[in-house]
Amino acid sequence: MEKLKIVAIVGSLRKDSYNRQLAATAKKMVNDIAEFELLDYADIPLFNEDIEFPTPKSVKRVREIVKSADGIWFFTPEYNHFFSGVLKNLIDWLSRPISKNEAQVLKGKPAAVSGITPGMSGTGIAQDHLVTLISFLNMNVMNSPRLTIPNALQQINKDNRLELTDSTPYLQKQADAFINFIQSKRF
Ligand code: FNR
Repeated sequence: MEKLKIVAIVGSLRKDSYNRQLAATAKKMVNDIAEFELLDYADIPLFNEDIEFPTPKSVKRVREIVKSADGIWFFTPEYNHFFSGVLKNLIDWLSRPISKNEAQVLKGKPAAVSGITPGMSGTGIAQDHLVTLISFLNMNVMNSPRLTIPNALQQINKDNRLELTDSTPYLQKQADAFINFIQSKRF
């Protein structure tokens, strides 16, 4: 059977981002069933209608990758009880149709939402805002389970690498649920 394709969108550009490391852990969990591509979007410009057409190359590339996905898995940090500005900028670009004949690329795509933070909130408030946005864009959101991981430092080793312990079964549960969710929307 052909592998599913999951595209992971991490809302932090930080090299050692805990959310990026969480995505890397999730990748290992779905590896047998799904191809898992981490979207690199650090090079897209700030959205500005003056530069929307012709579409910047970096935006075209990112759109094509998103378009090819069977599901999008968001890993969001929480900035001031919101998701990050870079993620909003990316989604604003993706929300714009490529041409008059084509729907925007997020429409109907299955979406899962996770996040990790050193603080207590576990990114839950940021996730709520993100879900409002992606629902407005008619993504097919898996509302349950979502994954919020607070107190990240308890699962970080001395080299600042994420080593999930308590949260492992919850991430696995979400990974399995998302695969089933995507498959149920596909057929
Ligand atoms: C934060 N951080 C933070 N954490 C939190 O739990 N709730 C919050 O509202 C905020 N607000 C906030 C604002 C700004 C501007 C920054 C830079 C940070 C802390 C944040 O969770 C922490 O830096 C994470 O490590 C960011 O995620 P990555 O980069 O590790 O994925």
